[in-house]
Amino acid sequence: MKILVTAGPTREAIDPVRFLSNRSSGRMGYAIATVARDAGHIVRLISGPVALSTPTGVERIDVISAHELAAAVLAALPWCDALIMAAAVADWRPVTTSDVKLKKQAGPLTLELERTEDVLGLVQPLKGNRIVVGFAAETGDPVPEATRKLSAKGLDMIVANDISQPNAGFEVETNAVTLIEADGTTRQIDTAPKAKIAAAIVAWVERHARRDV
Ligand code: CTP
Repeated sequence: MKILVTAGPTREAIDPVRFLSNRSSGRMGYAIATVARDAGHIVRLISGPVALSTPTGVERIDVISAHELAAAVLAALPWCDALIMAAAVADWRPVTTSDVKLKKQAGPLTLELERTEDVLGLVQPLKGNRIVVGFAAETGDPVPEATRKLSAKGLDMIVANDISQPNAGFEVETNAVTLIEADGTTRQIDTAPKAKIAAAIVAWVERHARRDV
């Protein structure tokens, strides 16, 4: 299969030295790309800024902002049989980006923010028979909110995790997730290395891939 994976955070520039971002390390997406490559798939990895090396044999496309990530996903979508959106896309960006470094002033600074592109929302009408997998990082029981996102974004499956657990989510080597399918089937995977979670996700995609993409 041709599998498109997104990974890592995006950065939304405030000025040449400052940005808004999040704590994603990219490890989950890179683990998925590595496992998919090992299973013999052709893998493209669209990556936000991370401190990870590119898995050998994987084509990596670097992006910085949500806008760039959206453009890269839409450009690669016709190519792929499956999209796995592990990237932690920033939800807001500053309405204006200063070309010069902002100087400190007396008193507070107010930043006006606008929504970034909803990448999976843009993919939804173009999906066809492709398998599309999303992620939902929540604090507290992630299943109700992930189920809502699965249906709102027309996904085939969503990987839900509770990032308030110490061994799950951002900046750790392990994760604990629930895989939720469009028909409501759920499967819980207790705390395990991200490579093991990645293997379960790739195996799920292989089982559900449709021939006539
Ligand atoms: N996602 C996306 N575009 C965005 C934000 C998120 O495509 N602008 C994708 C993520 O890659 C993930 C899924 O949508 O696969 C859910 O991301 P999440 O941030 O949990 O969902 P949101 O819809 O942004 O909801 P909220 O932040 O309000 O919880």
